[in-house]
Amino acid sequence: MVIPEQKIEEIRAAANIYDFISPHIALRKRGRNYIGLCPFHNEKTPSFTVSEEKQIFHCFGCHAGGNVYRFIMDYQKISFIEAVQDVAKQVGISVEVTQTEQTEGPSEQEMLYDVNTIAARYFLENLLNAPEGETARKYFENRKIKLSTIRTFGLGYALPAWEAFINFARDKNIELNKAVQLGLIGKTNEGRLYDKFSGRIIFPIFSSTGRVIAFGGRILENRENTAKYLNSPESVVYTKGRVLYGLSHAKDDIRKLNKAILVEGYMDLISLHQAGVKNVVAVSGTALTEEQVQLLSRYTKNVVLLFDADAAGMKAAMRSIELLLQRDMEIKIASLPSGEDPDSYVNTYGKQAFEKIIDRAQNFLEYQTDYFQKQGLFNEPSTTADAIRELMKPVALIQDELKRSLLIKTIAKKFNLREMLLEDELRKTLAGHQREDQIEAKRRKNVESKVLAEILPADKQIPQHIFNLEVELIKLLFEGSEKVVELIVHHINDEMLLSEANAAIFNEVAEAYNADADLTAGALIGRIKDEKIQQYISNITLEKYSISKMWEELHPDEVRGNILEKYTKDVLCKYKHAHLDENAKEFYLEMENAQNDDDKIIIMKRLRELNREKQLISDELL
Ligand code: CTP
Ligand code: MN
Repeated sequence: MVIPEQKIEEIRAAANIYDFISPHIALRKRGRNYIGLCPFHNEKTPSFTVSEEKQIFHCFGCHAGGNVYRFIMDYQKISFIEAVQDVAKQVGISVEVTQTEQTEGPSEQEMLYDVNTIAARYFLENLLNAPEGETARKYFENRKIKLSTIRTFGLGYALPAWEAFINFARDKNIELNKAVQLGLIGKTNEGRLYDKFSGRIIFPIFSSTGRVIAFGGRILENRENTAKYLNSPESVVYTKGRVLYGLSHAKDDIRKLNKAILVEGYMDLISLHQAGVKNVVAVSGTALTEEQVQLLSRYTKNVVLLFDADAAGMKAAMRSIELLLQRDMEIKIASLPSGEDPDSYVNTYGKQAFEKIIDRAQNFLEYQTDYFQKQGLFNEPSTTADAIRELMKPVALIQDELKRSLLIKTIAKKFNLREMLLEDELRKTLAGHQREDQIEAKRRKNVESKVLAEILPADKQIPQHIFNLEVELIKLLFEGSEKVVELIVHHINDEMLLSEANAAIFNEVAEAYNADADLTAGALIGRIKDEKIQQYISNITLEKYSISKMWEELHPDEVRGNILEKYTKDVLCKYKHAHLDENAKEFYLEMENAQNDDDKIIIMKRLRELNREKQLISDELL
């Protein structure tokens, strides 16, 4: 399908990039821009920057960057066309479906979703009706799972054969390689195909919108040397760290109750749901990720962690707590009697008893302090100091100062600790964080220059100061000022620009300017298709310490537009002078080698001309 460029730009112009990013990422205002934690790499201090004014984003940590389309493509892992359609839908512009699209058929992704859906139905059918499904039916009966629950969660059974699913897939004309991609079919070293989930109970994994994106498969009887659970590999439709099991079934209740209970396993979630506790999601085995927290925070800020009360469970909980605190979540921790998990507990003691456990959940600091006390750490000064240091680490992650001091007060009181001691330790931890921030900023600067080097290969021929000015001019093209673009387009041509990438960018902008097109950065960046160059542009335009910013600070009383123009002229002048100075250098060299006075006179004349030219440029621009 082809959408005309003009339409693509119309849709982009109608969308505000902030509205498309803020539902997924917690953004806060910093200066003119918004910042938040980057969804494209793991980070603790925010490097992800969004400019509403320029309609672009950039991450100074991993260098993802571009306009609203780029964000949607990367975030949802969809194609450019799909991103355009997505944005079009949300801003209410209809995109004509052309004839070609209908003959093209569904996208690769749609086909993968279809394969998963057909497979899920097949597994369910086995569980409900196949003669060989009897053992599986018995299994669920023993675990007190009702038929209605099986249907709600689309549970299933993979027949204990090597080629049952393969034969079914062949029958249904499913492309086998798609099923291999999705991990439904395995391939031996010799290239023979086999049913991957053979003989396992099946838990379809749904996206938050309820599509089947993967499967978890459990063996019927625990056996040594066989993994209890087998999970689908990551694929085009499944990224493990971005999914919370059961979210599509739980999201309404989570919103309604404004609280989510976080458990570990598939069966925990299913049994709780069956018992009527529906605001539950499961991390399913892996450590909680930032993206999962992000996902959850769209529905509630209140999370109850329900982990095992042992040391390992405690450790896992503490790691999750850090992530949750950074997202400003309110965290409580509940614990079950040892040897129980939520599934066994609710099946033995019932819903009411379970709810009591949740009601008794402690805030994370209380929970940890309690744990330390039980271990006797507060009995001696030396271990007390260590324990307090541990306790203050997560507290330091809370952004809200008031909340922090309230927490400390309650803990000090409850456990008879000196408040001052806690505060001192907190201050130290906070100071440490600040140092980390500084180191991070420095590291980022290094990475930045590396990215520039990668995109614009260091050309030994280009003197550094000329190159810097050149980059500054490119940066100015994306300031969203028509006047600035006009100045640059009139004074510069692509042949003057020494780096190829800069020249290509310049040409695109000049073309947009001549066509009277939108000159906001978000529009211009969309004209350039190369992803690396998009990153380079978003990088230089959103840089924190730009020369133009310093100029603004030097002229605090001027209107921003005026400053920008003045500054542009200044850069243009310096840039052109620098070029002429390079020429002059050559003349001086020639002069040294000149054989006779006549030659010298000619060179001197040229030099004088050069100087005159420089003066003319200054006169015009300054
Ligand atoms: N898990 C996994 N792979 C394993 C073991 C566990 O992916 N080899 C994940 C599963 O999502 C599982 C969760 O970790 O649901 C918790 O594991 P566990 O407590 O061992 O299983 P339960 O959920 O309690 O399952 P069951 O009650 O059926 O034993
Ligand atoms: Mn269990």
